[in-house]
Amino acid sequence: MRLFIAIELPEPVKQQLEALRSDISGARWVPPAQLHLTLAFLGDVSVETQAMLENGLADIDLPPFFFHFVKTGCFPDRRRPRVLWAGIAPEPRLEALACRVRETILSCGIPQEERPFSPHITLARLKHPACTDVSQFLDNHMRIGLQPVEVMEFALFSSSLGATGAQHAVLKRFTLKSSGRQAEDLL
Ligand code: 2AM
Repeated sequence: MRLFIAIELPEPVKQQLEALRSDISGARWVPPAQLHLTLAFLGDVSVETQAMLENGLADIDLPPFFFHFVKTGCFPDRRRPRVLWAGIAPEPRLEALACRVRETILSCGIPQEERPFSPHITLARLKHPACTDVSQFLDNHMRIGLQPVEVMEFALFSSSLGATGAQHAVLKRFTLKSSGRQAEDLL
């Protein structure tokens, strides 16, 4: 099964992110129900490895935290925009969570890319980069005035590719523990 690990977003936040949409030619906007903050992407994982992974994720001992939105941006850059995203302000506890998740995945023998964690929420994917439209969108959203999001859990998702795009389903949720170790001690 094709798996990834992500933080789900509260319904009002998904609606507010959906409201940022504008007319960008070639943009495929992520349906609000599918908006999430990816912690790690795993690809295809066997049933045995998935069981080991779930045990490891359940052992992650970190406390709940808040994250804040900052601005919109795009990957790889404004000249060739392929992915439009909402960015998250640097947050040590989010970094610590992504780091623990990554270590758990690696300890299960699942390879991970070397590139550093870059916390974002994908809003749209662009088939034919429309640079002017995208630049206007980014300029209009230099700051995202959304409320902070409290993260009390994270989830293991499956992603199945269908004719209408990827379908995501939560397989298991993992609660952050208020008794969890402080992120500052872990980084
Ligand atoms: P992103 O959209 O948050 O950037 C589920 O497919 C999630 O896993 C996506 O939201 C995407 O992250 C991430 N993802 C999908 N395919 C990927 C790949 N080949 N490499 C890295 N991350 C991927």
